[in-house]
Amino acid sequence: MKEPSHQLVQVVYCSSATEELTREKVESLLQISQKRNEKLGITGMLLCAGRSFLQVIEGEKKNVEKLISSIEKDDRHRNITIIIREPIPERSFGEWTMGYADLKEVDFDTIVGINDFFMQDEPFARIDQGRAKKLLNLFKQGQWRDRISNNIHQEGFACRYRLNADFSPAIAEKPPANISYSFAFQPIVSTAECCIFSYEALLRGTNEESAIDVIKKIPSTERPIFHQENCVLALHWAAYRGLTTRLNLNVLPSVISSSPSAIPSSLEAAERFHIFPKQIILEILESEVIRSLRDLSAALRDYRSTGLLFAIDDFGAGYAGLNLLAEFQPDFLKLDLRLVRDIEKKGPKQAIIRGIRRTCIDLGIEIIAEGVETENEFRWLHDEGIRLFQGHLFAKPALEKLQSSFYGPV
Ligand SMILES: Cc1cc2nc3c(=O)[nH]c(=O)nc-3n(C[C@H](O)[C@H](O)[C@H](O)COP(=O)(O)O)c2cc1C
Repeated sequence: MKEPSHQLVQVVYCSSATEELTREKVESLLQISQKRNEKLGITGMLLCAGRSFLQVIEGEKKNVEKLISSIEKDDRHRNITIIIREPIPERSFGEWTMGYADLKEVDFDTIVGINDFFMQDEPFARIDQGRAKKLLNLFKQGQWRDRISNNIHQEGFACRYRLNADFSPAIAEKPPANISYSFAFQPIVSTAECCIFSYEALLRGTNEESAIDVIKKIPSTERPIFHQENCVLALHWAAYRGLTTRLNLNVLPSVISSSPSAIPSSLEAAERFHIFPKQIILEILESEVIRSLRDLSAALRDYRSTGLLFAIDDFGAGYAGLNLLAEFQPDFLKLDLRLVRDIEKKGPKQAIIRGIRRTCIDLGIEIIAEGVETENEFRWLHDEGIRLFQGHLFAKPALEKLQSSFYGPV
């Protein structure tokens, strides 16, 4: 459907100033802004607290987009995090071409702007309703502002490190070569301990075809047995490569319920290859855990006594998420890579991850951020207290190998 050209939109973002803004600098910024905003029919407000900004911009969609793209390029601020970007039925800020308040000023006498917006006792009283008002109040209380200013970093990496993981001599014969599939292993890195925490075994074709391509070739009735066999092969490769840390294995909830021997056969193989159950983290896909949540949780809980560890994979991608956590508390929760992507710029994702992290702290669950590809994603997640990472930024999967080193930010 074609959108009407006059559609009103509102954008709310937070950012942090790259330098101390003197009063003169703010005044000149506001002068330019107010003139340009008037021409573009833009209204809104800009709040400043220390080095943090929160700005509301509203107007016709094409004008707002144009302004936002200028503002995003402005090097007077960084960590620009969009919290709201949506159509609105009417403006919250009516005639204000850009109200401005410095929240450090206890009385609002010194406010610069062409309006008396902040001259009242309650500076937000004139905004009627809606999420923008709630956000302004949250900013005033410090919530968004702390998050953003914590994110001020030196540009780029101070340095990168290369670490070696310990390996024991091969503890198994080389796995047979006459199989049409194999495994790639991708490190999961602990930034707290500067070491490789675990390796995830990723199913691959012998020519590195994806797991989906491999599975597509297996008739659905044979998949449970295939799954059981391939877990054994992953353990076999890990043992042959001298695993001393942990191994993350993917298991499908449907396989656990349909073939009761699936987990016991992996445990038997692990014993044969001298891998302890406590070295194995079974990853359960969140999106697969919709049916029989209770039964699955009970089955998994029973395996706890063996020492096996559990992770919920792709958390945030499916629907089972919070219900699953209520029934079964895994040792680890892997954040879905779609939540991780561009996290430093996406306010709603940030709010979700903070909520998940709070829940995990309360339940004693460790978060693993997967699919981390950029330094900015890493920085944001690290600032939130996440310490286990997986992704191309650190190390790519390597076919039939446990890589001994990885690159990472310090
Ligand atoms: C925190 C902050 C808020 C800004 N708000 C506005 C604004 O509301 N309107 C505006 O025209 N420019 C604003 N600017 C300045 C723009 O980034 C940009 O410098 C200005 O619009 C000139 O754009 P141009 O160089 O693309 O012509 C703001 C800059 C900062 C750092």
